[in-house]
Amino acid sequence: MDIRMTVNGEERSLDLDPRTSLLDALRDDLRLTGTKKGCDHGQCGACTVLVNGRRINSCLTLAAMHDGDEITTIEGLGAEDNLNELQAAFVECDGFQCGYCTPGQIMSATGMLNEAAEGMPSHVSADLNDGVDLSDAEIAERMSGNLCRCSAYPFIRKAISSVAT
Ligand code: FES
Repeated sequence: MDIRMTVNGEERSLDLDPRTSLLDALRDDLRLTGTKKGCDHGQCGACTVLVNGRRINSCLTLAAMHDGDEITTIEGLGAEDNLNELQAAFVECDGFQCGYCTPGQIMSATGMLNEAAEGMPSHVSADLNDGVDLSDAEIAERMSGNLCRCSAYPFIRKAISSVAT
């Protein structure tokens, strides 16, 4: 089936098996391999991308469900020689070790900061309505869908916090 999506600001047209996940479409068909496949079952967050500005596990959704949507992957945030603020903060704060989960962490944090700025509550702070005001516990809760096998969590939170405040 034919699917059209805007990926990192570019109109893309794909001819896909309707059973293709968004993750596989991005990695295998569009060759955007910055988005990682960890568990392929919605458990690790390595495959996180933004769909119309909202974070999503791309392994859990079919590409066919995103006809007409706007997708942002890690490749859409910055370039190797021109990192965006959050990417630079991960480098500055040693927010990774092996790096495999990093694209998903950064995409999830990007979506999370958008959600927090819009006052979307979390379990920790049910009445966060005054824009970004994220405690360490708040960041930990909001980022709990993204696993890091190297356990770089304190440095990941520090990187996010440095951008959020
Ligand atoms: Fe999608 Fe793990 S690969 S959540």
